[in-house]
Amino acid sequence: MVRAAVLSAVGAPLDITEIDLPAPGPGQVRVKLAAAGVCHSDLSLSNGTLRQPVPAVLGHEGAGTVVSVGEGVTGHAPGDRVVLNWAPSCGECHFCATLAEPWLCVNAQAATTVPYARTPAGDPLYPGLSTAAFAEETVVPAHALLPLPEGVPLTDAALLGCAVLTGYGAVHHSARVRAGESVAVFGVGGVGLATLQAARLAGAGTVVAVDISPEKEELARSAGATEYVVASETTAKEIRKLTGGLGADVAVECVGRAETIRTAWNSTRRGGRTTVVGIGRKDDTMTLSALEIFHFARTLTGCVYGDSDPARDLPVLARHVREGGLDLGALVTDRIGLADIPAAFDAMRAGRGGRALVVF
Ligand code: APR
Ligand code: ZN
Ligand code: ZN
Repeated sequence: MVRAAVLSAVGAPLDITEIDLPAPGPGQVRVKLAAAGVCHSDLSLSNGTLRQPVPAVLGHEGAGTVVSVGEGVTGHAPGDRVVLNWAPSCGECHFCATLAEPWLCVNAQAATTVPYARTPAGDPLYPGLSTAAFAEETVVPAHALLPLPEGVPLTDAALLGCAVLTGYGAVHHSARVRAGESVAVFGVGGVGLATLQAARLAGAGTVVAVDISPEKEELARSAGATEYVVASETTAKEIRKLTGGLGADVAVECVGRAETIRTAWNSTRRGGRTTVVGIGRKDDTMTLSALEIFHFARTLTGCVYGDSDPARDLPVLARHVREGGLDLGALVTDRIGLADIPAAFDAMRAGRGGRALVVF
């Protein structure tokens, strides 16, 4: 039995309870979590913005130590330090094998549909985003584990698994920010902060952070923002003013709302690029006129996991952490226990704080 945060039904509060976690089956690995970050996608699963089978143990941004491995598992052994990958790619589908774009793998969420544990009453439990990281221990498919390179503290390494792979990838793979370019980042949560750090690392010039909360300015500036704008009806105009009247070369939306996507697009220059990282509601829509698409010649693109190949990119991120270009600790504003996750959700709804990190 291990303690875990269980979502029993969409809209229900999380239960912090014991679960019955079996030994790893064939191809599976059991991991003892060191830490797990609380990401907005967990909140989105709990309120139904994102869907997966329930009851489920949430949490998908985790790092820990291998406890035991199931039959046929090679490449992982007890004691190994690992980061969880919430989109384990199959290596065989069109996106994996032909396009080499594993972040688009059609089977990445296959594990979420198979129960992996049970409640004390014997009911099946599904693993949140394949990883179920809000628990003292978890059991995951072996290919949902990334070896953690040396020189990165295990606890902070949890953040690499979602916020940092995503934010870094949005900047480097999706938007392809070049040195000197201006970048506007919408949303200063864990993902936005990682995006700001990545923009700084890319040598961006003016970096504008935008958030509805005026309280995030210091956090944003410490992650690399050179300007801070409190979101309003004039946000796009303010960003144009801060970028020589032109608009930003690049905007990265880390909120997940049609309105902020629209503002992000408006705040880029003619020919500018907008990358959408945030995940929003299906019925939250925006319009673009047929003329403005031609006139502004801008690009609008979505990305999953920052277009990252976690296996390829984690060693790169670890090197940046060792060299000081990425500061994982600076993303974390609260170190909490499992029982505090509901309060971390409340803070997120209210737009307070950076990343809350559950430390086991
Ligand atoms: N304009 C600007 N900022 C906003 C707005 C808005 N209209 N609405 C909310 N925000 C800010 C919040 O104040 C908060 O600081 O967006 C930030 C979102 O941060 P978190 O809730 O911590 O979310 P995070 O975990 O960073 O994820 C961001 O990326 O992966 C996706 O599902 C995730 O859609 C979510 C997004
Ligand atoms: Zn996440
Ligand atoms: Zn695949």
